[in-house]
Amino acid sequence: MCSALSVGPAAGGDAQLTLSDADAASMEGEASRLGYADITSYLLELHRRHTAVGAAEAEDDARRAPTALPIRPERAFETEHGVIYRGDSAALMQTVLEPQSVDLVMTSPPFGLVRKKDYGNEDADRYVKWFEQFADGFVRVLKPNGSLVIDIGGAWKKGQPTRSLYHYELLIMLARDYGFHLAQEFYWWNPAKLPTPAEWVNIRRVRVKDAVNSIFWLSLTPYPRASNRRVLQRYSASMEHLLKHGYKAKRRPSGHDISTKFGRNNQGAIPPNLIALANTESNSSYQRYCREKGLPEHPARFPSGIPAFFIHMLSDPGDLVFDPFGGSCMTGEVAERMGRRWVCCEMDAPYVEGAKGRFADPEASLPARSRGTKAKRTKPYEIFPPNLSLVDEQRAPLAQDGGRQRPPLTQEWTEDGDAPHA
Ligand SMILES: C[S@@+](CC[C@H](N)C(=O)[O-])C[C@H]1O[C@@H](n2cnc3c(N)ncnc32)[C@H](O)[C@@H]1O
Repeated sequence: MCSALSVGPAAGGDAQLTLSDADAASMEGEASRLGYADITSYLLELHRRHTAVGAAEAEDDARRAPTALPIRPERAFETEHGVIYRGDSAALMQTVLEPQSVDLVMTSPPFGLVRKKDYGNEDADRYVKWFEQFADGFVRVLKPNGSLVIDIGGAWKKGQPTRSLYHYELLIMLARDYGFHLAQEFYWWNPAKLPTPAEWVNIRRVRVKDAVNSIFWLSLTPYPRASNRRVLQRYSASMEHLLKHGYKAKRRPSGHDISTKFGRNNQGAIPPNLIALANTESNSSYQRYCREKGLPEHPARFPSGIPAFFIHMLSDPGDLVFDPFGGSCMTGEVAERMGRRWVCCEMDAPYVEGAKGRFADPEASLPARSRGTKAKRTKPYEIFPPNLSLVDEQRAPLAQDGGRQRPPLTQEWTEDGDAPHA
């Protein structure tokens, strides 16, 4: 037997879809389980996903802003300290999490909406509007002295060498409409980032490599709980030398008095608000788990150092850390290792399945020193100050049209942007 199902208005009348009874029942059951209003909404969402996602767009998909269709959160996995929910985190914050229960929201929201659709500033307006449901939730669930940390990459406008303002609009909305204070903005420099978009950076050579994400640290009070003593970084070689061999107090050429206290060993240097961290993981236990099970590896994962930095600085063991855009649940894994309670919420079922792999081996969830292994000493990344004296301006004329036209390809100027004199 077959059911004819009306799937909504089309030009000239309702379109009809013929399904077997079993398929119709199964679809109806799944639509209702996931919280869709009806089977039409469910099918439309599936279709939207199917047409929006190509293999090359996998990363965009992971960062996309989904429709507002509610997907009722369900407990998908539990560990000693935490829970992964599958579903919509805006709903989770209104129905599952207790008011004023979260010490730290540590997250990286999707931002594909901006890249896919760009109509002047509308991208930013739509994004901010979409984000309001989460802002409502944060105000509800955060403790008054808790912190909200949002990692968010910038975006280029389509077909134009200019940037969307969406993340700045988001920041202003959170401060102006929801009363958040900007405790500090951080920049996450990923030294491994490729020079994109190639058109403006490599070919027309009118922009430089975009290699930083903004990380906004916000809170509902100007005085969130925090200690920079938790995130000290290794001293520079010159400071280590100075600590070993002593320092003679003297006046600097600038006139500043450098006191003897300058030579005191504080177990590390206070870090700047620039976090240098490459995202180059290629064979982690999470990845091996996904490969073994045929699950997609989340393409926009945090390196563990990003959540670890903020969890150390802004929470204590036993505190509750929440990631509403959980992805592969890196935040949960780090929180688990650090003895924090945690909740991650992720909408896409395959990513939730993969996230379970982070906890498959309890040993792997312990920090190196608890396993009796010596933690590796990391090398600093190198970044040079601008060396402007090397530039031969005759050989590098300005693009007089600002990059409006592609430059002609010459022997000197190759597609990948490697001009011999560059
Ligand atoms: C940038 S990724 C986060 C990656 C994560 N930081 C990690 O380390 O794996 C954003 C994720 O948010 C998810 N997402 C988008 N809207 C959501 C919602 N309303 N509720 C829960 N998850 C959502 C997307 O499916 C995507 O996996």
